[in-house]
Amino acid sequence: MSPHPYLRTLLGPLAVIIACGTGVRAAAPAPITAERAIVASAHPLASEVGRSILAAGGNAVDAAVAVSFALSVVEPWSSGLGGGAFAVVHVGGESMTLDMRETAPAAATRDMFLVDGVFVPTESTSTARAAGIPGLVRGMAELHRRFGKLSFEAVVAPAVALAREGFPVSRLLHGAVAAYAGQLSPEARAIFMPGGEVPAVGQVLVQADLARTLARIAATRGEDFYVGETAAELVRAVKAAGGIWEAGDLAGYRPKERAPVQGAFAGYQVASMGPPSSGGLLLVQMLGVLERLPPCKKKICPRPEELWKGAERLHTLAEVMKRAFAARAIGLADPDAVAVDHERFVGATALERLAREVGAARRATPAGKLSRLSVKPVERMHTSHFAVVTADGDGVAVTQTINLGFGNKQVAGATGVVLNNEMDDFAAAPGAPNAFGLVGDEANAVAPGKRPLSSMTPTLVLRDGKVVGAFGSPGGSRIITTTLQVLLHVVADGMNTSEALAAPRVHHQWHPDRLMVEPLLLSPEVRAALEARGHDLAEVGLMGNAMAIWRRDDGTLEGAADPRGEGSAAGW
Ligand code: DON
Repeated sequence: MSPHPYLRTLLGPLAVIIACGTGVRAAAPAPITAERAIVASAHPLASEVGRSILAAGGNAVDAAVAVSFALSVVEPWSSGLGGGAFAVVHVGGESMTLDMRETAPAAATRDMFLVDGVFVPTESTSTARAAGIPGLVRGMAELHRRFGKLSFEAVVAPAVALAREGFPVSRLLHGAVAAYAGQLSPEARAIFMPGGEVPAVGQVLVQADLARTLARIAATRGEDFYVGETAAELVRAVKAAGGIWEAGDLAGYRPKERAPVQGAFAGYQVASMGPPSSGGLLLVQMLGVLERLPPCKKKICPRPEELWKGAERLHTLAEVMKRAFAARAIGLADPDAVAVDHERFVGATALERLAREVGAARRATPAGKLSRLSVKPVERMHTSHFAVVTADGDGVAVTQTINLGFGNKQVAGATGVVLNNEMDDFAAAPGAPNAFGLVGDEANAVAPGKRPLSSMTPTLVLRDGKVVGAFGSPGGSRIITTTLQVLLHVVADGMNTSEALAAPRVHHQWHPDRLMVEPLLLSPEVRAALEARGHDLAEVGLMGNAMAIWRRDDGTLEGAADPRGEGSAAGW
């Protein structure tokens, strides 16, 4: 499996990961620490926006909404106004989640991505019909309405300024434009390839149309995007490109409040995103199984510092992961369209059965024994995770996305908005793999007004009703396993947030039946031990671009950004 071209632009950080593979504590830089709050995001300019909003008297939600809009400008290939998000929020002692996931337009049909009865992947990724109705703008406006302290204009203003005045092109933005140059629509090329060229690192990129759209959003609490000038231009442009959006789809879009998926691990409470994300159920399941393993503490709380990359731990993780992903493929989808049985994933009976199975599996369990569907993976890495945690125990974790790099590669007319290709997260046909090699059954079939199943896993960790940690990542199917491992490293392995993020990762998603590992994680002895147990090992590129925030026992907040990306933590 050769890395996607865009992944190659990420290989710079390999030095840190490789160093960490051989001695994580020595190699990772110290986390950022702060007394009042930490913001961690995938772009330093966005983290700085969050810090400045806190310094101006904003709360965690004001900062999160401001970071979200800023990321829409400085990471245009990754997430934005044309996409969706999930937020897990804990403010004033109460937890909630907001589902701002894209929704299939009213004219969507079950077989819309089949040609002569066969699924054609480009249909659900690279056409105007690949775009679901975006939820980010109304979702962020709703979060702000519920919890924000500052004015909406004030939290959107930094993003307007970044779009209007421009910002220096980063290494990853340069790499993303270079990787997708040949696929971008004329409107997208006009913005992201000024003068017809891939912009150099450091060159200032202005997004004038996006600045005007953001200014209208700021002035209307987001409504212009759904019922105003922006809405009209979005519908016009999508239809002109062959899409099926109607004015009513945008006008009728609503973010939905949902209860968090709750779990327990090592004495902490975990609050994560439930359906239509699979992330929370799988994460809470995997943590619950690990906690129940006999003898659990020895496997998941290794005391010898490096046991986390030993064969026993990696074998156990692979067995836990593949069972979670086998379950994901059946009956998991938008809970407003199908009844999702949470007990099957995270009920005590299910967790105990899985723990017995994993505990008894001395060899790798073949994927075919766990379920019936089969898939083939494709490497991709976009989407953005960020979080804000304050000293008073409030926290917001958000993962936002337009799905693949530059979404469907189209900018909608004069809006400056990059359109998502989230429709690819539906199961175009039962068992047909999406861009991440994920399969689903009829439950996740396309239907009008339905939200596609996601893997995004924004997660808060709480103790005594206060947020002590925030975790999450992009990475498609690897989001869930990346979030699991970073959380385990901090909570169970005693690493600080930088060490936890730098540690090399593994991933198993049931199909393909392969334990994917980052370069140089495995010593020859560990590799041999895993192969002797029947694991098919595949060394892949880098996985995820995670963020981690943690409150130490002495109350100090610390945070860090994944060395695989270019993000940062900012303290206040
Ligand atoms: O919602 C999901 O699970 C995907 N659309 C996320 C896409 C993603 O993480 C892309 N990055 N690799």
